[in-house]
Amino acid sequence: MRLIPMCNFTPAPGSRLLLLTLLAGCEGQQSALNPAGVGAQSIATLFWWMGGGALLIWAVVMGIALYATQAHPEAHGIRSARWLILGGGIIFPVVVLTALLIYGLTLMPKLSSSENVALRIAVSGEQWWWRVRYRTEAGDEVELANEIRLPVGERVAFSLTSPDVIHSFWIPSLGGKVDMIPGRTNVLVLEPTETGTFRGACAEYCGTSHALMNFVVQVMSREAFDRWLAEQAEPARSPTTDLQQSGQRAFLSNGCGACHQVRGTEADGTVGPDLTHVGSRLSLAAGTLPSDVDAFERWIGHSSAIKPDVKMPAFGMLPGAQLNAIAHYLSGLR
Ligand code: CUA
Repeated sequence: MRLIPMCNFTPAPGSRLLLLTLLAGCEGQQSALNPAGVGAQSIATLFWWMGGGALLIWAVVMGIALYATQAHPEAHGIRSARWLILGGGIIFPVVVLTALLIYGLTLMPKLSSSENVALRIAVSGEQWWWRVRYRTEAGDEVELANEIRLPVGERVAFSLTSPDVIHSFWIPSLGGKVDMIPGRTNVLVLEPTETGTFRGACAEYCGTSHALMNFVVQVMSREAFDRWLAEQAEPARSPTTDLQQSGQRAFLSNGCGACHQVRGTEADGTVGPDLTHVGSRLSLAAGTLPSDVDAFERWIGHSSAIKPDVKMPAFGMLPGAQLNAIAHYLSGLR
């Protein structure tokens, strides 16, 4: 008999791709199996226990099934067959499932308790972006969009709601997901344990552009976080270059301020995202574009091509120079 050396095993291109995709799913900024928070750690532990247990039980069942194909029926009495059915079919599943249920339930109070919460953030899921509200130490409310920054090692309570349809708030690297339901406020407590940049997503189908509704989560030291929040609470910077100034004029004269707020200017709309410090954000259009002048220009000119059914109309009819100036103005709002 010739043994096939395992190290020479080359998966077919299709299965190699599948294998790579599966392994890649465990890494990165948006993986529940690469935890950087207390909740995500418990969930990952539960997953590995359940995955390992399922594999073990599968192997035993397969072993018994294989044995059954080989064994002679008369070698076993009716009594032992009954015991196998009673033990393997009733007692064993009841014991295993009860133990799993108890373990799962004991995790829950720890994950949802809002004791020792250092920070409260209100997040509203909207079609198709995230409205984020912080409160400063001075009691001022600061509204941002599509970006959440958190101090490392502190418990944060998120108040989650929605004005339109059901969304689901999920930062896989930090913890579990919670639905955002119109007319209700759900609370999720997260505690990041590592600094870094992570990605959050909507985990409930909420319309055409559900998959284009993401956000960036940055976990930082307490000092860096305080500095960042104090900067976000400031009114918008005045445009400095000629191009930015003409961009600001075009922004205001084309009615952008009816939907968007830029604190410190006459733009005070509340329908769309607050743009006071939009240039400082790590992404544009809810995680769909990078944050640079080109992306701003593309987004304003072709919003509905980038995000189908988006409420913001495309301003492709504006002269190219005006679009470019607005992009420079917004990108300068740091
Ligand atoms: Cu919001 Cu899916």
